[in-house]
Order: sequence, then structure tokens, then C-alpha cells
Amino acid sequence: MASSSAVDLADIPSVDLMTELLRRMKCSTKPDKRLILIGPPGSGKGTQSPIIKDDYCLCHLATGDMLRASVAAKTPLGIKAKEAMDKGELVSDDLVVGIIDEAIKKPSCQKGFILDGFPRTVVQAEKLDEMLEKQGTKIDKVLNFAIDDAILEERITGRWIHPSSGRTYHTKFAPPKVPGVDDVTGEPLIQRKDDTAAVLKSRLEAFHRQTEPVIDYYGKKGVVAHLHADKPPKEVTNEVQKVLSS
Ligand code: AP5
Repeated sequence: MASSSAVDLADIPSVDLMTELLRRMKCSTKPDKRLILIGPPGSGKGTQSPIIKDDYCLCHLATGDMLRASVAAKTPLGIKAKEAMDKGELVSDDLVVGIIDEAIKKPSCQKGFILDGFPRTVVQAEKLDEMLEKQGTKIDKVLNFAIDDAILEERITGRWIHPSSGRTYHTKFAPPKVPGVDDVTGEPLIQRKDDTAAVLKSRLEAFHRQTEPVIDYYGKKGVVAHLHADKPPKEVTNEVQKVLSS
């Protein structure tokens, strides 16, 4: 039985159908990739993810974005996550593992995925590897966005975001054409509640204590590529492309 939310293809403009068809044809020639992007807050994971996603036809799963959507919608998960997020602490492993387990099964992840902000603890990494083992797959590459803490405060406090697309701007390093407005849609940009110098301190502390061991965990499996994340965005993109094409 057709669900009430089913879309009638006849209602979709031909140009949209053709664009999607061309995208799928291009994607069918791309190799599958299962990637993890790991790095401290402001290291550029969210900036590089959309480029990698388009290049390799992957889905982009950012646990921070998913959690913020749950907080905004006041779902039971969002209510549980909010307090930790506001303080710059990590939310519990069980909550995020559940979100990812569900998300990687989506059709848009068929060619693989970019995990941005997950796993953030060794427990999360072990659970992820168990999930993938059940599917007969594994992580192909972990991109380590290596950068000095001193650079991050300016990046974080100058960041502006277009919430519905995830597009990221920076007042100094990547300004929008019109201040406070998204280049593509003309909609207003926002700043994240946790993007303050004070909360950044806790976020960095959590990164060094709980997330850095994940880099060693995957280092032992021989899948980590180290990037110079302090370079300008285009140079980081070039490094990423080099690593992923090798
Ligand atoms: P999350 O949303 O994942 O935040 P984060 O890891 O702190 O990372 P950010 O999004 O801040 O940084 P980014 O590396 O994407 O930087 P961006 O590219 O935007 O997590 C938020 C919270 O959710 C956590 O604190 C935690 O509470 C919870 N959470 C999420 N996942 C969890 C998990 N797995 N387990 C438990 N809790 C979890 O760049 C920053 C700025 O710099 C931008 O303005 C950009 O334009 C600019 N920029 C980027 N690259 C460059 C460059 N190369 N040169 C100059 N400027 C640049």
C-alpha cells in the first residue's frame, strides 16, 4: 500500500529528475568509501565534509548536527543531550551509537559515509567496528585534522552557520557575500551556542582526554592519514584529495 507521504514522480520537475539521474550515473563509477574525520573543534571537519561528500557520493553523518536537531525539536534524545552539549562535554556513548547505527543503513549511505564527530571515544570506535563487521565492511580511512589548539579560538568564535544546509562561513577566513546571510538561499546565518571561548576550553579538554585515544586506536589498524589542518581551506582540500585517491 502506498504511504500517504509517498511522492508522485510526475510532480517532480524534469530538471530535478535529470539532475538526480546524472548524479546517480556519476556516482555509480565511484569507489565505496567509509571515512572518519577526526580533529578538535574548529579544525575544519565540517568545512571539508561537503566537498568529500560530493566528490565521492557519500552520506555525511555529523553527530553534532544530528544532536543539535534533536535538541531544537525537543525530542527525548535532545532533552538528554542538551545539558552536556551546552557545557562542552560529550553526551553518553549509548545515545550517539544508537543514532549512527540507524543512520548508516540509509539508502544515501549506500556508497559509504563520512563520519564527522564520531567516534569520539574508544568505546564508540569499538561499537562502530562491531556494527560494520556485522555488515561485512570496515573503515577505509581516518583523516586526522591535526592542528594546534592556539589557532582554534579565532576559528570558532568567528564561525557563522546556515542551519538547514550546514554551510559554514567565517567572518575573516570565509566571509559570506553579504554579512549574516547565506550565499545560496539568502537566509539568515546563526552562531552556535557552544561557540564561545569559555565553552571551547571544555570542548578541547574533552577532545584531548577522550577523543585523541581514538586516533591511536585506528593508528594501530594502519588506516590513519594525518593532515595539516592549519593550512588554508583549499590546501587542506588538496591534501584530502591526495590521501583519498591513493
Ligand atoms: P560537533 O558539532 O561535532 O562539534 P566539534 O567537533 O566541536 O566540531 P566543530 O563543528 O566545532 O568543528 P569543525 O571541525 O567542523 O570546524 P569547521 O569546519 O566548522 O559537536 C558538538 C557537541 O556535540 C560536542 O561538544 C558534544 O557535546 C556533542 N557530540 C557530538 N558528537 C558526539 C559524540 N560522537 N559523542 C559524544 N558527544 C558528541 O571550521 C570552523 C571555522 O573555521 C569555520 O568558520 C570555518 O569557516 C573556518 N575554517 C575551517 N577550515 C579552515 C582553514 N583551513 N583555515 C581557516 N579557517 C578555516
